Amino acid sequence: MTHSIDIERESQITYRRLFPRLREACSDSISADPKGWEEFSERLQRHFPSLFQHYLALYRDRYDFFFHMEDLLFSLARAWFQRPDDLRGLDEAREQNPLWFQSNQMLGGVCYVDLFANDLEGIKSKIPYFKELGLTYLHLMPLFRAPEEENDGGYAVSSYREVHPPLGTMEQLAALAGDLREAGISLVVDLVFNHTSDEHIWAERAKSGDEEYIDFYRIFPDREMPDVYELNLREIFPDEHPGAFTPLPAGEGPGVRAGGGWVWTTFHTYQWDLNYANPAVFNRMAEEMLFLANQGVEVIRLDAVAFIWKELGTSCENLPGAHTLIRAFNAVARIASPALTFKSEAIVHPDDVVKYIAPEECQISYNPLLMALLWNALATRKVKLLSQALATRFKINPETAWVNYVRVHDDIGWTFSDEDAAILGINGSDHRRFLNEFYRGRFPGSFARGLPFQENPKTGDCRISGTCASLAGLEKALNEEGPTEVELAIKRILLLHGIILTSGGIPLLYLGDEIGTLNDYSYETDPAHKADSRWVHRVKADWDLYTKRIDKNTIQGQVYQGLQKLIKLRKAYSTFSGGDLEIISMNNDHVLGFIRRNTDGQAIVFVNFSEAAQTIPSLIFDQHSIEIKEKLHGASNYVAGQEFVIEPLDFSVFR
Ligand code: GLC
Ligand code: GLC
Repeated sequence: MTHSIDIERESQITYRRLFPRLREACSDSISADPKGWEEFSERLQRHFPSLFQHYLALYRDRYDFFFHMEDLLFSLARAWFQRPDDLRGLDEAREQNPLWFQSNQMLGGVCYVDLFANDLEGIKSKIPYFKELGLTYLHLMPLFRAPEEENDGGYAVSSYREVHPPLGTMEQLAALAGDLREAGISLVVDLVFNHTSDEHIWAERAKSGDEEYIDFYRIFPDREMPDVYELNLREIFPDEHPGAFTPLPAGEGPGVRAGGGWVWTTFHTYQWDLNYANPAVFNRMAEEMLFLANQGVEVIRLDAVAFIWKELGTSCENLPGAHTLIRAFNAVARIASPALTFKSEAIVHPDDVVKYIAPEECQISYNPLLMALLWNALATRKVKLLSQALATRFKINPETAWVNYVRVHDDIGWTFSDEDAAILGINGSDHRRFLNEFYRGRFPGSFARGLPFQENPKTGDCRISGTCASLAGLEKALNEEGPTEVELAIKRILLLHGIILTSGGIPLLYLGDEIGTLNDYSYETDPAHKADSRWVHRVKADWDLYTKRIDKNTIQGQVYQGLQKLIKLRKAYSTFSGGDLEIISMNNDHVLGFIRRNTDGQAIVFVNFSEAAQTIPSLIFDQHSIEIKEKLHGASNYVAGQEFVIEPLDFSVFR
């Protein structure tokens, strides 16, 4: 029986024991920076109970708990003393305004450094463009040192402290963070903390047989344990390797012990899952995180959060330990880099997605459900699943925010809840099959040109790759149809973006989409990419096309300027800040309606997903006590007391 302890009391005792040792160890830094020490120790005292509680929950069974706890505090203090003054200033500002990310001024963008602008200097030269677009948040896709050939778009990190050489240097990244901040843009990067590449120094040491580093990963001498684990595991990248383990060639370190051996690799064979049951792994990763925060990174995207904690006999996804672990990391940030905001990347069942969202865990989170259901509504021309999700699953802790997006660098997974679908009479797996057929362009009448991703014949699972424009019909319209269809495709693109810009939370643009970038099939001839269809929507920016954005007579201009209007609308009305949203039941399957209300007023949004005009009885307005004063956006007109006719694929906003 584990005997229960009074956490509060034990936390105080531990703090009282550790604090003098820490002060002693830091004496030189303290004399050099007494004010810094004062700030640090104040925050340490404030947040130690939460750090202790989570750390203890994870590692209480370790005989060497106290050693690791102390080691962690030393790391925190070291990182704090290295934290530049301007970032310490930001720390204070964020503590005073923790809800900064809920502002209607917020607009996110995400891109690959090399594909968008070759390297970090190139990104710097695009700052005027980011400002023109209205960005206040820029996520640069993983830019750390990674294996030369296949590296999963940088998600196989070989060093968290070095920029991938072709892209630039860490000094350049830190300088860029400062330049961006000056331009009102927060830098966002990934903390790829579930795994490292097999070329990371930790992996190299494990390969060479160093026991300390073998314990950094989940390495087994034979198939016995992997087989037992796999009874309950999902296959994430079945195209690449079955199951979740990769054999280690005999002759490498752990292999020498075992004549082979197996390493846990949830994703690709060259991405080795870290072993967070080992507190040393937590401590080293906390150091990497604080290092990045000290370069000026303001938001870290916690990659693949669902997978970080593993327990035998479970699916090893979304376990309570994953939450404890993130909360412990969050406490680390609150102590040593309080400006840092956490963003969750959990592309899982909606019940699980929300569990990562809390002020003490991830303050912001991707909203994969909204994304998937936007595409669902576009294909079916029906809004019931979308409307239901917005009514029942959109509300989150008022101190947090969704990151709403239409496309990102990944595939579209149909992560809606089967239970929700069943309530509406929809069979989840049949419907997913339909959606995959539709977006692959195989369903009769489909406007989409997408590709399957990780189709698993064993389970029937499949996801979809493709750019926003190609999935919304622009590629087919341009190649096979004509101006009418082109116009419809552009309306679809704008309507989807209209929703993410007005529904609440941070809208995130996948850069390239703002000028209607189409699929690029050249990845099929690149040996490092051809097996991964996500590269079809990871397109090199064509700056000649970008220059056309100012010309309304071009496709680029129509998409870009249409989007600009929506962005201006968002930024002009503070009603669009925060996250409160009320769904209007429209009595029309094709039209989504919602109201945004706050102390600054109200905005009413109607979206017609059908290619035909739709009629809304005036009764709806009475039922929801909607009084319309002014049209803010859209092609449809409203006359009080009359039925409201909403134009095909229109995105209309009133107040
Ligand atoms: C995340 C990334 C994805 C990557 C995976 C493994 O889900 O978004 O691109 O393949 O993690 O790191
Ligand atoms: C899986 C993972 C998600 C990742 C994606 C990459 O769906 O759950 O984290 O982004 O694969 O395609």
